[in-house]
Amino acid sequence: MQKHVFSDGPRINSGQRMPWLGLGVWQSGSQTQEAATTALQAGYRHIDTAKIYGNEKEVGMAVRNSSVDRKEIFVTTKLWNDDHGFESAQKAFHKSLKELGLEYLDLYLIHWPVSGKRKESWKALEKLHREGLIRSIGVSNYTITHLEEMKSYYEIPPAVNQVEFNPFLYQKELHEYCQKNKIQLEAYCPLSRAKRLSDPRLTTLATQYRRTPAQLLLRWALEHEVIVIPKSVHAERIKENSRIFDFRISAADMKEMDSWNENFRVSWNPNQLQFR
Ligand SMILES: NC(=O)c1ccc[n+]([C@@H]2O[C@H](COP(=O)([O-])OP(=O)(O)OC[C@H]3O[C@@H](n4cnc5c(N)ncnc54)[C@H](OP(=O)(O)O)[C@@H]3O)[C@@H](O)[C@H]2O)c1
Repeated sequence: MQKHVFSDGPRINSGQRMPWLGLGVWQSGSQTQEAATTALQAGYRHIDTAKIYGNEKEVGMAVRNSSVDRKEIFVTTKLWNDDHGFESAQKAFHKSLKELGLEYLDLYLIHWPVSGKRKESWKALEKLHREGLIRSIGVSNYTITHLEEMKSYYEIPPAVNQVEFNPFLYQKELHEYCQKNKIQLEAYCPLSRAKRLSDPRLTTLATQYRRTPAQLLLRWALEHEVIVIPKSVHAERIKENSRIFDFRISAADMKEMDSWNENFRVSWNPNQLQFR
């Protein structure tokens, strides 16, 4: 596969190009560094971690020890819920950057829209962006309500909203809102954490395309212009999940897959009261 497909991706509203495909590392544990190294060797140019995953250090080692130029790798980490606030968010960011052992971050996300200090945290991210320490700033698990609220206080709009997204949780309204407001949608749990890979409709369609169910789910998100960050600690799966740039899903089959939505969540629901 041509290497450039791994760097290809939308130009997000910060002006930066963000690769369509990244490696997720939640629960990769002691296998994180090896998984990230395998991914970089396979061509991936984007890794998604978070302070709460406890593996920023391992991700940083994989990035720094790789023969790939730092500037070609898109690294994301996230501000955890306990670290909200203007001063605390800056402190948490510097700690994450140190763990990663990097001089700058490509994308820093507010992990969850916890109540109370969303505005102060965003102001901290804007400051760090202006200081050149973060190329792009964004949010995660924000609903339309949270994104609308941001309009009242942001000077820099969020570049990305990372949310749970796959055909079984097709958040169409949120996706359309983000497109309209030039916020790039990024799909976590794009494989529904492997809980729907044996759905007969999916396996039948995957056979027709001579692809695996995982590849079909990832391609479905790409067809919707949504970035994907599948997690795996297995080299074969890491490679399998990257073979998604050389086929298309027909309009009729996209319509069919769109209809599989059942609001099926494997992660927390941000519509919960605690995030209002
Ligand atoms: N912002 C947030 O709140 C948030 C929340 C959750 C996740 N995330 C991010 O999104 C990433 C992806 O989400 P996720 O890890 O929850 O779920 P996911 O990527 O949908 O699924 C990962 C699961 O699928 C398995 N898998 C991977 N490739 C496979 C394949 N080709 N065939 C069969 N099984 C396969 C993995 O097992 P093996 O590892 O054993 O291969 C793992 O159990 C995370 O790692 C994290 O970086 C963000």
